Amino acid sequence: MQTDLDFDALVVAHAMADAARAAIMPHFRAVLDIENKQGGGDFDPVTEADKSAERAMRDVLKLLRPQDAIIGEEYGRQNGTSGWTWVLDPIDGTRAFIAGLPVWTTLIGLVDHGGDAIVGIIDQPVLDERYVGSPDGAYLRSAGSDTALHVSECDDLRNAVISTTDPFILTPPEQGAWTHLRDTARIVRYGLDAYAYARLADGTIDLIAEAGLAPYDAAALIPVVRGAGGLACDWRGAPAKPGGQLVCSASQEILDQALESLRGSAV
Ligand code: IPD
Ligand code: CA
Ligand code: CA
Repeated sequence: MQTDLDFDALVVAHAMADAARAAIMPHFRAVLDIENKQGGGDFDPVTEADKSAERAMRDVLKLLRPQDAIIGEEYGRQNGTSGWTWVLDPIDGTRAFIAGLPVWTTLIGLVDHGGDAIVGIIDQPVLDERYVGSPDGAYLRSAGSDTALHVSECDDLRNAVISTTDPFILTPPEQGAWTHLRDTARIVRYGLDAYAYARLADGTIDLIAEAGLAPYDAAALIPVVRGAGGLACDWRGAPAKPGGQLVCSASQEILDQALESLRGSAV
């Protein structure tokens, strides 16, 4: 895995997260103009907050890292020459944002030329919580101070707190696997989008399984979870690349228990 960062990626990522915060916060719990990105009766909302935050992050990259590629949810792909790609979801959890619930986050991932996510930020401005992960570890920045992040010591799925954002977007085989996990675990929470992965990194959620993810839904999460000592895999148990089916776990023991169900619907 290419982890030889020859520039200070965290300085760049923090600058992007600051820019996104400034762009988004005036819109939170304000009157929003909501567009639907999907036709055919589906609903995929986007707001000016999403779009202006991605533009603000792209402006930072134009200044600090014009040689890097970008993949952003709202403005697509821009090629680069360095081998590094910034993968951006300006608001993950736009539905939560519209509902005024502070579980939406800004996701910033840095992916190497082999497609591995190396650096990630999950930023929640309302709570002033910024979860940061890199090959050096993971920390939570809040109120100007940094605290190391560590996953929980949970080693049995029967004691675990587990989460998925929306079980209704899973395919029928995936729902079957999820139902088995849900029936085994102690506590199940829904609707948290990427904030669930932040809480896994901070030790209060033990396992998350999701599917149908785009690269920008997942790239930032993997370095935060791994930096906090957790595991990030696909549903076969192979190390995760951003997108598709993702399972993140606090320990190998509960991952192995979960994979007994998830492997049956791995794609
Ligand atoms: C959604 C969130 C959600 C996932 C969906 C995504 P958005 O992203 O990441 O957790 O389950 O697949 O579309 O649209 O709120 O950025
Ligand atoms: Ca998303
Ligand atoms: Ca989004």
